[in-house]
Amino acid sequence: MIDLKTKYLGLELKNPIIAASSGMTRTIHLLEELERKGAGAIVLKSIFEEEIAVELNKQVSKMNQPTSIYPEIFDAFDYSDMEDSVSKYLFLIEEAKKKLSIPIIGSVNCVSSDEWTLFAKRMENAGADAIELNMFVLPSDLTRSGSDNEKIYFDVIEKVKKEVNIPVALKISYYFSNLGTMIQKLSESGIDGLVLFNRFFSPDIDIDNMKITPASIYSTPSEISISLRWVAIMANRVKCDLAASTGVHDGAGVIKQLLAGANAVQIASVLYKFGFDIIPQMLEFMKTWMEENQFSSIDDFRGKMSQSASKNPAAYERVQFMQHFAGKGVH
Ligand SMILES: Cc1cc2nc3c(=O)[nH]c(=O)nc-3n(C[C@H](O)[C@H](O)[C@H](O)COP(=O)(O)O)c2cc1C
Repeated sequence: MIDLKTKYLGLELKNPIIAASSGMTRTIHLLEELERKGAGAIVLKSIFEEEIAVELNKQVSKMNQPTSIYPEIFDAFDYSDMEDSVSKYLFLIEEAKKKLSIPIIGSVNCVSSDEWTLFAKRMENAGADAIELNMFVLPSDLTRSGSDNEKIYFDVIEKVKKEVNIPVALKISYYFSNLGTMIQKLSESGIDGLVLFNRFFSPDIDIDNMKITPASIYSTPSEISISLRWVAIMANRVKCDLAASTGVHDGAGVIKQLLAGANAVQIASVLYKFGFDIIPQMLEFMKTWMEENQFSSIDDFRGKMSQSASKNPAAYERVQFMQHFAGKGVH
């Protein structure tokens, strides 16, 4: 019997495939369908700190401006509608907890440790099994130092951890000057899990119309390589769980991230590109692969290819294309 169970944030997941926070996790019907198709857990679409601030009658802090980064924030974000967002979000959590049996993780997009952190308690009271903080301070403010920017992450974690008893995960980018050390320090902050990595809305330029347009909204399978490298490097060197995000498009991608040492894997782009049937296909692939390789549970192979366990740890450090690669047909 093949057992796909895994533990993430202290929660028991029937399998490691988590529907990542996105437009695909924003309504109860979508959540029910994701559960039906076999998702192990769901991270709800993020609520924005600005939305919570409106309810708390706070001014949107200046720092919030550059980080409203998802397509939805430009296309569908109506500031006049924000007052309802908090109650709608809490209602979605309550409804999901009534109708679904898989873990439901609430998500907040935040860039400060302002009063919005009180909202974390309300998510817990509504029944959320965990909270994911979707944090990114774009290092574009030339007057702020790297350590100023980094401090915000620790301040937020401290405040949120004080508010709630449920597990808290932090979803980060790889834009840190000393990434390995930062991931390690964050893992020692009391956080229960780190999600490596978020993928952001990025600008492109339309040269015919002289307009700034959205760059590709969905990832490609080749984008798995950055999170794969860092999950592999950091596995067994962190004091919290790791979830892999970005570029996981098929069952092989899930297996790779588990071999690298992830506790769970998050998917978003494939849900948009191929629909929710991709989940049972990925699960089927995993089972077949495990059978063929004689693994009966995920713990039998999780982390086997992490840097610390690998026979070739240097492979994860290699960054330059060496001459002999070029000699083998890559020119
Ligand atoms: C349309 C869209 C909306 C997203 N919205 C959110 C969000 O609200 N909060 C969040 O943390 N991540 C959000 N993400 C990022 C995804 O959760 C995920 O981390 C990212 O897309 C990389 O994973 P993928 O390669 O499987 O798409 C969004 C992604 C997409 C494509």
